Amino acid sequence: MYDFDCLPDRRGSDSVKWNGISEDVIPMWVADMDFQAPPPVLEAVTERASHPYYGYPTGLDELGRIVIQHYEKVYQVPIEPEWIVWVPSVISGVVNALKMLGGTFMYSVPMYDHIRRLYAEANLPVIEVPLKKDADNHYAMDLEALEAAVKPEVTCLILCNPHNPVGRMYSKEELLELQAFCKKHDIMIISDEIHCEIALDKKHIPYFSLNEEAREYSVTLSGAGKICNIPGLPMGFAIIPDAKIRKKFIRQQDGLLPSGNIVTLAAYKKAYDGSCDQWKDELRAYLCENRDLAEKRFKAISEIQVPHNEGTYLLWLDCSALRLEKPAKFFMEQAQVKVSPGKIYGNSQCVRFNYGCPRKQLIEALDRMEAAIDRWRKNKD
Ligand SMILES: Cc1ncc(COP(=O)(O)O)c(C=O)c1O
Repeated sequence: MYDFDCLPDRRGSDSVKWNGISEDVIPMWVADMDFQAPPPVLEAVTERASHPYYGYPTGLDELGRIVIQHYEKVYQVPIEPEWIVWVPSVISGVVNALKMLGGTFMYSVPMYDHIRRLYAEANLPVIEVPLKKDADNHYAMDLEALEAAVKPEVTCLILCNPHNPVGRMYSKEELLELQAFCKKHDIMIISDEIHCEIALDKKHIPYFSLNEEAREYSVTLSGAGKICNIPGLPMGFAIIPDAKIRKKFIRQQDGLLPSGNIVTLAAYKKAYDGSCDQWKDELRAYLCENRDLAEKRFKAISEIQVPHNEGTYLLWLDCSALRLEKPAKFFMEQAQVKVSPGKIYGNSQCVRFNYGCPRKQLIEALDRMEAAIDRWRKNKD
């Protein structure tokens, strides 16, 4: 049994999440977890880093075989070795795909903030279409709204599955509906699946595995950054079954450094070769308990609406009923809990809450947020 309750001091770890955060604040924002990386990854990184030679690395072919075996084992999906294209990180792979295609791109909001910045990074126009939400706070793609918004110049749609920040994992039926919409308008799907192994309720469906058409007209991107909690070791891969698209994608990448430094490669092998399977299972079980606890506590607060989280360790909290201009600022000032402001994902009345942390920290953050809302109630009367 791994100890996910362990609370090491993460200050001074050179992480965006913890650096510069004052002692009295609990950071529940950036999407990395407050757990150590899995022991096999830690050992491989330490061993490789302690070797005094850092030559140009080899090993991508072997890593490709390892990733193929992983997809076979976890998703029962075959991948041909040449389908895999290594990228410096998942987002740089998405940018590359966008630049390769040109035109206008679209996606549903709320959406991971870096994807929302891509129009500037790829210098391309974007169309954002809201997800729909039902009375049970369940988010889904709004096919009618996508249909109303689409234009002839749209070349691709970015799918985020599992969806950061709303925590949806799209079903086969939903993916088929989206595919039909895209086919009708000759739109390619770029599927960002970096959270795919943080699947808490159901099995993830890699987009390219949906059917033959999905294989022929898609770029799927993933990496070990989320599941093994190693975003500081950037790397990723694109799965591009279609030879013509793959060739274009590789040509578009020309001039970029080959992916993976020698230490990251050591980590990635362990992330996918099965050594971390037990750790990953226990992590998911721990995250499920955190999620259930956090959802229960937030559901008890009438001013907050929380959708059920199927994947990722991120809860999307709708705080509209608090009638605050900046709910994240409120939680920072009144609860000393740092959450991500919903504005950057496309809805300023929401906040994103990261529950990927030891339970003691989670409970402390929940207690503080609850107490802050209690005080808000008293002050409002
Ligand atoms: C949906 C999604 N894609 C990509 C990334 C970042 O990937 P990378 O660091 O490999 O570029 C994140 C990080 O939070 C994410 O949530």
